[in-house]
Amino acid sequence: MKARIVLLAAVLTICFCLPLQAAENIKLGVVTKPGSAQNVVADKFKELLEAKSNGDWTVTIYDSGVLGNETEMLQQIQMNTLHIGIITGGPFDTFTPIVRVINYPFLFKDNAQADEILDGPLGQEILDGLEPMGFKGLCFSENGFRNLTNSKRAVKTPEDLKGLKIRVMNSALHKTIWRALGANPTPMAWPIYTELQQGVIDGQENPLWVMEVYKFYEIQDYMTMTRHVYSPHIDVASLKWWQNLDAKDQALIAGCMKDAAKFQRKDNREKDAARIKLLQEKGMQIEMHPDVDAFRQKVASLAGSDMFKDPAVHDLLVKMLEAVK
Ligand code: PAF
Repeated sequence: MKARIVLLAAVLTICFCLPLQAAENIKLGVVTKPGSAQNVVADKFKELLEAKSNGDWTVTIYDSGVLGNETEMLQQIQMNTLHIGIITGGPFDTFTPIVRVINYPFLFKDNAQADEILDGPLGQEILDGLEPMGFKGLCFSENGFRNLTNSKRAVKTPEDLKGLKIRVMNSALHKTIWRALGANPTPMAWPIYTELQQGVIDGQENPLWVMEVYKFYEIQDYMTMTRHVYSPHIDVASLKWWQNLDAKDQALIAGCMKDAAKFQRKDNREKDAARIKLLQEKGMQIEMHPDVDAFRQKVASLAGSDMFKDPAVHDLLVKMLEAVK
C-alpha cells in the first residue's frame, strides 16, 4: 500500500510539477501587408516550420508594420525582442555598408544570375558580414527588380527625371543613385501611398508586385521598366537568439527559411507578366524599353565613390562585379 502511495505521488509530481513541453514561438516581423512579397515568405516559413516540427515550433507573424518600420524592426532584432525579420536590402545600409554591394545599380542581368550569386559564396560573405551587427543572415528571398513610377510624365531617359521628387528607401546608396540619375531623391520609410496621393513626392521605385498590391496604378500614371536595382530581402534572425538554439533547431529553422525563400522567388517571378497586363489595364502608361545604357552611364562611377570607401566592402564589390561579367 505504502509503495502504491509513493508511486502515485511520483506520477502526480511528474504530471503537475514538470513543465509541459511547450511549443516554442517565433516572433516574425514584416513591414508589408498580406499578399506582399515578404508576407509570402513569412507565410510559407510558418507553414513549413510548424508542419516539420509537428507543432513544437509555432510562428506568429506581425505584418503591415505593426512593429514599426524596417529600420526599427532591425533594431528590435539586434536587441532580441524580435526573432526574425524579412527585411528589404535597402534599410540595412544604416547598419552596415556591406549590403551596398548587393544594392549596386544594374548589378545582376537577370533572376538566374541573382540566384547564382546570392546562393553562392559571395552571398554567404554578405550574410556572414551581418554578424558583427547582431544579425544572423539566414538567406535571401526577393522583392525583385525595381522600376520607376511617377505621376508627372513618361520617363525614357535620365533627362526626363529632372526635377522629379522620387521617394527612396532609407539608404545612403539609394539616395546617391537617384541623385546621380538626375532626380530629387527623398528618403522615406514605408508605406508611402498618402505621400504619393498628396503630391509630397512625385514618384517612387519598386518591383512590380508593389504597384499591384499597394494599388499605385490609382495615383501613378507612368511606369518605366528601369530594372535599376535587383532588390533582395535579407531573411535575418537575432544573433543572440540564434546562438541559444541547439544545432538541430538551427538546421530546421534555416532549412525551412531557405525553402520558403525558394518558393517565394518562383512565385514572384511567375506573376510578373500578369502584373504588367493588369497595370496596363488599370491605365498605367508603361515604358517597356527605356534607354537603360544612358541610366547605367550616370551611375558608372559609383564603385569608386565614398559609398564604397570601406576597403573590405570595396574588395567585395570588385569580386561581385567580376563575378557578374
Ligand atoms: O520600397 C520599400 O521600402 C520596399 O521595397 C518595400 C515596399 C517595403 C518592400 O520591401
